[in-house]
Amino acid sequence: MVKNFYITTPIYYPSGKPHMGHAYSSIVADIFARFKRLEGYDVLFLTGTDEHGQKIQKEAKKNNKDPKLFCDELSETFRSLTKTLNLSNNDFIRTTEKRHHKSVVEIWNRLVKSGDIYLDKYSGWYSVSDEAFYDDDEIENINGNKISKSSGSPVEWVEEESYFFKLSAWSKKLTEFYKKNPNFILPTSRKNEVVKFVEKGLKDLSISRTSFTWGIPVPKNEKHVIYVWLDALTNYISALNFPNTEDNKYKNFWPADVHIIGKDILRFHAVFWPAFLLAAKLPLPKRVFGHGWILSEDKKMSKSLGNILDPLEIIDKYGIDQLRYYLVKEVSLGNDGSISLENLKNCINNDLANNYGNLCQRVFSFIKKNCGNKIPLSSKLNESDKQLLNNLRNSLPKLISLMDNQELNEYIKVVVGFSFEANKYFNDSEPWTEKKKDPERMNAILFTIVEQIKNISILLNPIIPKATNKVLSMINISEQNISIDKIKDDKIIKNKKELGNLEILFTKIEDDN
Ligand code: ME8
Ligand code: MG
Repeated sequence: MVKNFYITTPIYYPSGKPHMGHAYSSIVADIFARFKRLEGYDVLFLTGTDEHGQKIQKEAKKNNKDPKLFCDELSETFRSLTKTLNLSNNDFIRTTEKRHHKSVVEIWNRLVKSGDIYLDKYSGWYSVSDEAFYDDDEIENINGNKISKSSGSPVEWVEEESYFFKLSAWSKKLTEFYKKNPNFILPTSRKNEVVKFVEKGLKDLSISRTSFTWGIPVPKNEKHVIYVWLDALTNYISALNFPNTEDNKYKNFWPADVHIIGKDILRFHAVFWPAFLLAAKLPLPKRVFGHGWILSEDKKMSKSLGNILDPLEIIDKYGIDQLRYYLVKEVSLGNDGSISLENLKNCINNDLANNYGNLCQRVFSFIKKNCGNKIPLSSKLNESDKQLLNNLRNSLPKLISLMDNQELNEYIKVVVGFSFEANKYFNDSEPWTEKKKDPERMNAILFTIVEQIKNISILLNPIIPKATNKVLSMINISEQNISIDKIKDDKIIKNKKELGNLEILFTKIEDDN
């Protein structure tokens, strides 16, 4: 039976160049997508750009561009980032596409049909940069400027005719849903905020605007455009060919297994989105994971502070595996985390160059020098050899469950521990001494360590695909054939007669670099 898994990133506003925060969400989602594929799942991994709304219209105008042309250009930089980040996404959706338009119109019509939409007048605060409405108690006055307490973005007073969604009617159903599905919102600390917010009772939500035009027109009343969040959230089903609910893509992949997002947009995903879906009589996603902020030297990255780390510059200088590894090793997924060039370099040197890279390099060059590049075969493993291998193999169920719960940092910690342990094993067992003393023993050591390198590489593959693909291809596993199952299978090594050539995996970064 085919097992399906659907994972998404936020669709990003192409109002400027992609930055480290965008790279972070996408890399995290990619790691889970790749892991599930190694487990044998048919994975759909979706990302894309969110192109309607006032923010984009304004930005396009500032640049003297037609909004669609403006989006075409900037969306392309996000699409090209998926390549640079080595993402394994199967699709890239743009909300200006026809397939999405159709799907949003259908959602709107369903909400009308269910009686969840009415026309009224909105007056209140609006933040263009967040594309969000705020209540009086959600804003504050700083130096005469009104800003949102939660995001710090400026708000303006808006008064216009607007369609409303009867969000208030869904508080109880949502609360019940959270109770029945305690892992719907993760991490738990964040879930509690959302649950409290909903339990207080929800106000109806304005879902159309009339003061600008860049959006999907409301069916039968085209002076309104559909609120950009109702438009944007629907992307997750547009990509499955909704409204055709008989389509295999929709049938196989909805409801989504997990939406990976940042904590800034948790309310939209964990409250509004499920309410829209309930009203539209569609199943709800299984999980929303809201990760924390990437900070630069303890502050939010901002142009004025000059502390922006540009993902493209870093990848260019240090490499993509290096950036992927660093971001997910150093930043705890549920929390805010600080990054810096200094830490990046230390992490590359300590974890990648000195630990995993060094392990592969020294083992393979030893085999090249002493065994004519042939992996020695041995069936005479002693207790310590077996223990090394079994430790890893026996931890598989735990590792799989860590990934299923998005406990990525714990997963990495365990796997890096194996790599450290393997280095130590190699040192302590001294195959160079055994070479003369007991060549059979040397063979057993080398066989064990190559087998362990294979297994560690498989486990690291979702995180550092480039380097591990090189290593695995040396020992007979091509990119398409990597799987978790191969961890239990030592015949692969046994059937491999000769090692390929290993290129340098990770170069150490010197001080002045
Ligand atoms: O909100 N640290 O798009 P957006 C970590 N279009 N993650 C960060 C980050 C940071 N400093 N900055 C941004 C939107 N992100 C909407 C989404 S979805 C239906 C519509 C990541 O371009 C994080 O995932 O403002 C955050 O939620 C997202 O980028 C916001 O991207
Ligand atoms: Mg934003």
